[in-house]
Amino acid sequence: MMLHLSSQIIGCGSYLPERILTNAELAQQLETSDEWIMARTGIRQRHIAAEGELTSDLATSAAERALVNAGVTAAEVDLIIVATSTPDDTFPATATRVQAKLGSTRGAAFDLQAVCSGFVFALATANNFIRAGQVQTVLVIGAETYSRIVDWSDRGTCVLFGDGAGAVVLRAANGAGGETAAPVGNRARGILSTHLHSDGRFRDILYVDGGPSSTQSVGHLRMSGKEVFRHAIASLTAVAEEAVAANDLKLTDLDWIVPHQANIRILDGVGRKLGLPAEKVIATVDRHANTSAASIPLALDVASSDGRLKAGDLVLMEAIGGGLTWGAVLARW
Ligand code: UT7
Repeated sequence: MMLHLSSQIIGCGSYLPERILTNAELAQQLETSDEWIMARTGIRQRHIAAEGELTSDLATSAAERALVNAGVTAAEVDLIIVATSTPDDTFPATATRVQAKLGSTRGAAFDLQAVCSGFVFALATANNFIRAGQVQTVLVIGAETYSRIVDWSDRGTCVLFGDGAGAVVLRAANGAGGETAAPVGNRARGILSTHLHSDGRFRDILYVDGGPSSTQSVGHLRMSGKEVFRHAIASLTAVAEEAVAANDLKLTDLDWIVPHQANIRILDGVGRKLGLPAEKVIATVDRHANTSAASIPLALDVASSDGRLKAGDLVLMEAIGGGLTWGAVLARW
């Protein structure tokens, strides 16, 4: 019998801070307007973490909900990966704080840094750990507090971002070692393939102007929006094509795309280039804004809770972020 190692998302959860910041409120502090923000980005509001509320708090709440949704206890988790570029502290990893807050002392926990692509990179990493037979159950979390690193005087960036967290529980399919019976190939439920890319030459179009080694300060987010926009459309289109082709599938086989939520114009543009109807593109950017590594698991939780994502659906998750980094995960839900 062929040994087929695979991993499957068995639960999702998310958490958004209580405080909602509307475009109208921003327009009172900055030279901007609800009309401009809506027309250029599709964002109408964002959530902002309360004073003292940390990335690890958001991550823990999302993780607790994902565990409940999956019917798994914290004691069963072998590995916790937190994708974040806004960690609580320089070290230790936010993931180890989440582990402690969940009351677990088992297994390992670490952070992964790929900015807005962080969740896709973390999911790919977790999938590889499972496929290697090293772990059974992984909490994959995207959690961010970008409100702490945006420059609130820069209207070109601060209106775009929000805080939040999303989590999934990834488990080896059919127990020990992930050995599973048929169906296999592109009909099997679970993660079918992962596709990761980076190109550090584009560092300067999206970065934070601070850090422990460079400036010994936290710094602020800086972005050349137009440049990033151009890369986003091209790279997200290419990596979607790469993912379906790798599985002998066609773009028309996709039931859903769950892209990183940066700008509705990017979501629409990629959907159009791929020839997919807008109904197949899960969009939450209007209410969450850009939550970086948290945006995909937040969107997954919305689409799974409202019944859009159904068992057996073909789902493409894809993202691009600072680095540049970009990638995709193709899964059968
Ligand atoms: O998550 C990582 C990935 N990040 C992204 O994917 C972001 C990608 N980029 C974008 O989403 C878009 O480029 C933005 C939303 C950031 C900007 O949209 P744009 O259509 O590229 O506008 P722009 O930067 O060319 O700005 C157009 C005008 C400028 O004025 P002038 O120079 O034409 O007079 C800006 O100064 O809009 C002005 N502007 C604003 N006006 C009102 C910039 N920000 C604002 C604002 N309110 N908040």
